[in-house]
Amino acid sequence: MTYAKTYADWRTDPEKFWMQAAGQIDWIKAPSKALFAGKAPIYEWYRDSLVNTCWNAVDRHVAAGHGARTAIIHDSPITQSLSKITYGELQSRVAKLAGALRARGIEKGDRVVIYMPMVPEALVAMLASARLGAIHSVVFGGFAAHELAVRIDDATPKAIIAASCGIEPGRTVHYKPLVDDAIAQAAHKPEFTVIFQREQEPASLVPGRDFDWAQECADAEPADCVPVEGNHPAYILYTSGTTGSPKGVVRATAGHLVALNWTMKNIYNVEAGDVFWAASDVGWVVGHSYICYAPLIAGCTTIVFEGKPIGTPDAGAFWRVIQDHKVRSFFTAPTALRAIKRDDPKGSLIADYDISSLSALYLAGERADPDTVVWAQDHLKVPVIDHWWQTETGWAIAANPAGIELLPVKIGSPSVPMPGYDVRILDEGGHEVTAGTLGAIAVKLPLPPGTLPTLWNAEARFLRSYLDHFPGYYETGDAGYVDEDGYLYIMARTDDVINVAGHRLSTGAIEEVLAAHPDVAECAVIGVADPLKGQTPLGFLCLNKGTERSHTDVVKECVMRVRDQIGPVAAFKLACIVDRLPKTRSGKILRATMAKIADGEPYKTPATIDDPSVLDEISAALQTIGFPSRGK
Ligand code: COA
Ligand code: AMP
Repeated sequence: MTYAKTYADWRTDPEKFWMQAAGQIDWIKAPSKALFAGKAPIYEWYRDSLVNTCWNAVDRHVAAGHGARTAIIHDSPITQSLSKITYGELQSRVAKLAGALRARGIEKGDRVVIYMPMVPEALVAMLASARLGAIHSVVFGGFAAHELAVRIDDATPKAIIAASCGIEPGRTVHYKPLVDDAIAQAAHKPEFTVIFQREQEPASLVPGRDFDWAQECADAEPADCVPVEGNHPAYILYTSGTTGSPKGVVRATAGHLVALNWTMKNIYNVEAGDVFWAASDVGWVVGHSYICYAPLIAGCTTIVFEGKPIGTPDAGAFWRVIQDHKVRSFFTAPTALRAIKRDDPKGSLIADYDISSLSALYLAGERADPDTVVWAQDHLKVPVIDHWWQTETGWAIAANPAGIELLPVKIGSPSVPMPGYDVRILDEGGHEVTAGTLGAIAVKLPLPPGTLPTLWNAEARFLRSYLDHFPGYYETGDAGYVDEDGYLYIMARTDDVINVAGHRLSTGAIEEVLAAHPDVAECAVIGVADPLKGQTPLGFLCLNKGTERSHTDVVKECVMRVRDQIGPVAAFKLACIVDRLPKTRSGKILRATMAKIADGEPYKTPATIDDPSVLDEISAALQTIGFPSRGK
């Protein structure tokens, strides 16, 4: 089989392609067909089926006699511990937690917010929700209480499952106090919480509201898998959009199962029993798809790594994990490799480990810069596969499908569209452009199984954000081009989303926090190039007339506010004071021009600018915070 043949097979008969892929899933009631287009442009996959995600990820492997196979390895250099859970043990732990949740009233369709660090219990909580047909919403631990509260109010969960604490290098993350604070801030009050007590910092529990995980599970009657319809939401995952309020990406159950299962062999080239490792976090889509669900659906062993690419204890941590657990396919973000490369430029630590089990390295989450890709190729001596996807899609839009055929790697490109994705490059008027021409990247509808059918409680926003601009297409929000061989190149976002260390952030959300500072009249946030994190946020603050406060104090307070309200993950540390912002005559802030000035790139003064002299003021303000002088 070749990639060209596989893609052509999908194109010729998508229904047949996706029904064949569905054959790998255990159905309670098999779907009569794949695509349900009755509500187009809202498409549904395998709607008339009945299925359970947890059954497919856990129970079916035990039923097939693989209960003794390792399902999860928890490798935690940060707590200096290592543990393994077999599929049999996982089934029993998940069924017990599901039983405990059910006993407290959780039913199919109820929402459960999960706020946990990288411990296996995070996966157990996700799977227990799925077992009951409850809809989980995992919130990344680097978000502050306010962001958690925003998600609680949108998802209106009946329960929150959290750990007492997480451990970051040099500090403890106080998950339980953050949960308490978020519940206090939120208008919606969950009925109860289940707290997984970690020995590093046990939390105090509110009687009648907070329940101890271990005790709940010890007393619980195990619960069976609850059948759900194919279009039943498996989870909601919030991601950054242009405005401050995050978008609740919905993942429908059946398409998620079919698509993720398809990717494991065809993209990641692994089979049941292989060890697969995605060094991400369960709070991100990569963690949902490739730490939790896909490896387990495929019967692989997944690694929950509680550590960092550097400093736990050194830049050899990744290679040690690959050696110790015989990892076959490894997935990380380019920023992690840049961190390793900075500490160990010659890759000397790699030689200390036997990484011969590794067949390929997969990169995603942000643009893979050529230096990093070449460094990894030279030192790891395996194919380095960049692949491009989004929270919205849940799996790769473009990749090099190593399990079908390893195509020639072109550095700077995430290779070619995967079956299911009819990728087009469009100009502003929605017309296709020729090869080599930059444009908006769009995908012809319908999107494949596993991608978002809508946004939680926000169908109008879904249509407005993704479908209205180019009728008949899904607008990815990325700009790029296709070359003569059909390889895609992803160049930039077309909106105000920035990418900091592989984390997607909204400049609009940061601006909302800054604008609320009593001395700030107006502000703008842009992403500037950063050698480690890809981009880093930078704020421009216009202060209220007559403010006599020290500029340094205002900047410090703004930095603290963003950390308190959005969280440390925003990595907001840089801001400067300006008298005014560059705007068009209609009042739109010229963020892209400001970003070019900050990055030292050549820029043209936009024809629509209200007053061109403000650009010199921006340049001068940047110099006050150490940015070199820029010319036009
Ligand atoms: N819980 C709480 N806080 C967290 C957190 C979590 N799960 N993850 C990160 N943070 C905090 C960090 O401690 C840091 O806080 P600080 O300002 O007190 O130091 C802040 O958020 C910023 O973190 P990060 O962006 O990760 O930067 P860093 O300087 O700590 O580390 C790297 C740099 C490159 C090592 C790190 O960014 C990294 O490992 N990146 C990989 C990213 C990744 O896998 N992304 C997933 C996309 S697929
Ligand atoms: P997220 O939803 O957090 O996964 O972020 C998705 C966004 O990250 C995409 O829309 C891109 O802007 C960027 N991104 C992800 N993977 C890649 C990649 N391989 N190359 C370039 N950009 C990427």
